[in-house]
Amino acid sequence: MCGITGYIGDSQAAPILIGALKKLEYRGYDSAGIAVLNEDGFTIRKTKGQLSVLEKKLENETISGSLGIGHTRWATHGEPSDINSHPHTDVSGRITVVHNGIIENYLSLKEWLQARDVVFISDTDTEVIAHLINYHIQEEAREKHGLLRAVQKVLARLEGSYALAIAATDYPDRIIAVRKDSPLVIGIGRGENIIASDIPALLSHTRDVIYMEDGEIAVIYRDHVEMLNAAGDRVIRPVFHVDWDAEAAEKGGYTHFMLKEIHDQAAALSDTLRPRLKDNEIVFEEPGIDESFEGAERIVITACGTAWHAAIVGKYVFEQLARIPVEVDIASEYRYRNPVQGRNDVFIVISQSGETADTLAAMRLAKKNGNRILAVTNVVGSTLAREADMKLYTRAGPEIAVASTKAFTTQLMCLYLLALKLGRRRGFIGDEDYKEYIQALSRIPSQAEKLLAKQDLIQRFASQQFNKAKVFFMGRQVDYAIGLESALKLKEISYTHSEAFAAGELKHGPIALVDKNTLVVTVATQKRLFDKIISNIREISSRGGASLVITWEGETVFAPVAGEVFAIPRTEDCFSPILSIIPAQLFAYYCSILRGNNPDKPRNLAKSVTVE
Ligand code: M6R
Repeated sequence: MCGITGYIGDSQAAPILIGALKKLEYRGYDSAGIAVLNEDGFTIRKTKGQLSVLEKKLENETISGSLGIGHTRWATHGEPSDINSHPHTDVSGRITVVHNGIIENYLSLKEWLQARDVVFISDTDTEVIAHLINYHIQEEAREKHGLLRAVQKVLARLEGSYALAIAATDYPDRIIAVRKDSPLVIGIGRGENIIASDIPALLSHTRDVIYMEDGEIAVIYRDHVEMLNAAGDRVIRPVFHVDWDAEAAEKGGYTHFMLKEIHDQAAALSDTLRPRLKDNEIVFEEPGIDESFEGAERIVITACGTAWHAAIVGKYVFEQLARIPVEVDIASEYRYRNPVQGRNDVFIVISQSGETADTLAAMRLAKKNGNRILAVTNVVGSTLAREADMKLYTRAGPEIAVASTKAFTTQLMCLYLLALKLGRRRGFIGDEDYKEYIQALSRIPSQAEKLLAKQDLIQRFASQQFNKAKVFFMGRQVDYAIGLESALKLKEISYTHSEAFAAGELKHGPIALVDKNTLVVTVATQKRLFDKIISNIREISSRGGASLVITWEGETVFAPVAGEVFAIPRTEDCFSPILSIIPAQLFAYYCSILRGNNPDKPRNLAKSVTVE
């Protein structure tokens, strides 16, 4: 996720672009840049680091020009660096582009351009767009609509998701904006127009906006906007008046970043999955991943907190799908014991931030002992990504709320892809099963969306239960792992005492704590263990505990024994965690609100634990 903006009007563009980028910084903050056009061509200033670094750079400089585009980046292709920062230009420097999204076929386009002697200077997918426009604009003889036609030809060649703002020295009266699967809005001003990835960036200029639809292109002039639909036909789109308050708008209308990020999950899962599926086959664009398990005899996974819970799910999944032994350890434990490591172990490290001190220390220990390191991380260019031998990126976009949500589900998605690929290579998954698994994964983003539409049910349940003194989560197998993650979510933001246990352990101790002030949430998606789970739930109810069961849609066996049942869409049993965690995230969120807390900033906690 990145933030893009563009301005055309009578005012100086640079301060307006910086102001807009400030409002978009939540979408990405590892680098930022602007390009402003005047009679001498483009002035481009871009730099690695937060927007404040760019601002500092511009402090003693006046950049004149009343047309410009800007970008705040969350790296996906190419690590954060000055060169990889946007805007990107073509070889002539006459065309500049900013981009939010992923160009899935950029490698083949890059090779095509390189075969025509185009020299690339960045590692980004975006740079291909600038060069391709330059290539196709040569065919247009600088006609009135030459830039538009060149852009249309380029779009026909792009696969993936993108919101683009494009400017060209030969067309100084316009910005071209394009939207496909990435958001873009146009703010309509008086004698000026401004585009941005999100409404907050527009609000200090105008509250009249056009929401671009997928596939649309807008040609933005200072005093009017021309719009074309995906078929290339001119369309007139309605102008909406936005009356949101500015602060709410920064969270996309959600009251908290955490709720926004819970809702981001459908898109984040799709962004993590889609670029890795080609013709029903899992293909990792990241170098070395395919070979990383060659000759592996064991997998060791370490992480902290939520990422550790993803690792536990990973253990079940790798063992089931790829029949390989897996050991999971908390990074802070691993680093201080004397682990027995095999030379043929593959060491997977999971971390949203890629900067967690214990996780880095565990990785370094494994590296020193000669293991191959595969990092699953959300932050391109993080320490973990730089030091690992191979990296697989979650494409969750920036996660602002301290409680991790979309990072977790995208970590699971990465682990599923790895386990499926490995299971296939090791001969444990046949053609038909493989196809079915891939189809099931492809349905997950829309199933997550469907599930999120039922958030009111969880909100109502939370309003009845938020004052419970103790909340326990139980489950078996992957459901136990989800219990652990659910309990962590609830305790960190609602400050409720909550624990998770493997349901089979109930009688070995935890049941002593169950009374009428206890809520027990059971995650039940493993059908072959339903009978045992039903007995566990009965044991809870007979001691006065309230009970909620999270299970599959259409499953009727729990209604007679549980107080409440919350249904999730059906998928393969081993993929259930990616969906069953969503109601638990919502439950924690609403309990936090109802208890008067700020779920985005829980007491005593930091987003990234970079010290021991
Ligand atoms: O950035 P990391 O994934 O390495 O962070 C690990 C934990 O600190 C993190 O998951 C933490 O437990 C979250 N606050 C949980 O919501």
